[in-house]
Amino acid sequence: MENQNTISGNTRVYAIIADPIHHVQTPAAMNRLFTERGEDRVMVPFHVSAEGLPGVVAGLRAIQSLDGFIVTVPHKSAIVELCDSVSDAAQLVGAVNVVRRNADGSLHGDILDGAGFVAGLRQRGVEPAGLSVYLAGAGGAAKAIAFALAAAGVSKITLFNRTTHKAEALVQRLATVFPAVQLCVGSEDPSGHDLVVNGTSLGLCVDDMLPLNVALLTSSQIVAEIIMQPAITPLLAAATEKGCRVLDGMPMLLCQIELMAAAMATEKNGQNHEYI
Ligand code: ATR
Repeated sequence: MENQNTISGNTRVYAIIADPIHHVQTPAAMNRLFTERGEDRVMVPFHVSAEGLPGVVAGLRAIQSLDGFIVTVPHKSAIVELCDSVSDAAQLVGAVNVVRRNADGSLHGDILDGAGFVAGLRQRGVEPAGLSVYLAGAGGAAKAIAFALAAAGVSKITLFNRTTHKAEALVQRLATVFPAVQLCVGSEDPSGHDLVVNGTSLGLCVDDMLPLNVALLTSSQIVAEIIMQPAITPLLAAATEKGCRVLDGMPMLLCQIELMAAAMATEKNGQNHEYI
C-alpha cells in the first residue's frame, strides 16, 4: 500500500466495480504491481449496484485522471452495452471484465477471465489440452473460461447451470466456434471428467449451497475454483476430502493482473489481448 502515501495530483486512477465488494483481492495485487514497477498509479474499490452501474459509468467517462477500471460480479454482462467498443473475445463471450478509458472518454472493454484461468492452470502444471472438463456456471466468468478452455484444446466440456437455458445458449455459441470440442449440458453430477471447475459465484458467501454434487467426485479428478475469498471454499474442502487435487482461485487473479494492467494502459501503449 506504499503508493497510497505518494498519491499526488499526477496519480493515474483505476477502479474496480463490484457488488458485493468486500471480497475483492484485485486492488491489493494491482497496487503491489504498480509499486513494484515504480508507477504513479492507484486502484480503488467502487461499491456499485446493478441499478447504479449506468450512471457511474457515464460519470467515469468524464474523469480525466482515470485510465480504466475492472468490472466484476454482477456487472460483467451489463457493462458490454456501456462500452463504445469491445475486443473480439469479449464480443464472443458476451462479457467484459476490464475497461480502458481513452483520452476522449471513450471506453474499450476486454475479457481476461478465461486467459487468466488457463494461465493459472498451466502455472500449476495442469495442461488443459485433451482434458474432459465439467464446468459449473454460465455467467460472465464461466463463459470466458469455457471459450478459453475450448481454445486451449480440451476434448470435452459439460456445462451445468442453475438457469439451464443459459448453459444451452453457451453450448450453442461454443459449438459454432469450436466444432471439434464435444459439448453438452449436464447435471449436478461431475463424475467422468478429468477437470471439474466451479465457474459460479457460489462459495463467496458462507451460507451458499455447493455448485455441484461433491459426493460424486473421485480422487482422480482435479477440482478448480474461480472464487478467491475464501481461499478454501466448501467445494475445495469437500474435494480435498475425496482425495482430489484442488486448485484455488488465486492463480487466475495473479495471472490476470499483468494482463489487466496492460489492457488498461493508454490507447497508444495498450495491447489488445485476444485469446481466441
Ligand atoms: P460472474 O460475472 O462472476 O460470472 P454472473 O455473470 O452474475 O457473475 O454469473 C454468476 C453465476 O453463478 C451464474 O452461473 C449463476 O447462475 P444463474 O445463471 O442461474 O444465475 C451462478 N449462481 C449465482 N448464484 C447462484 C445460486 N444461488 N445457485 C446457483 N447458481 C448460482
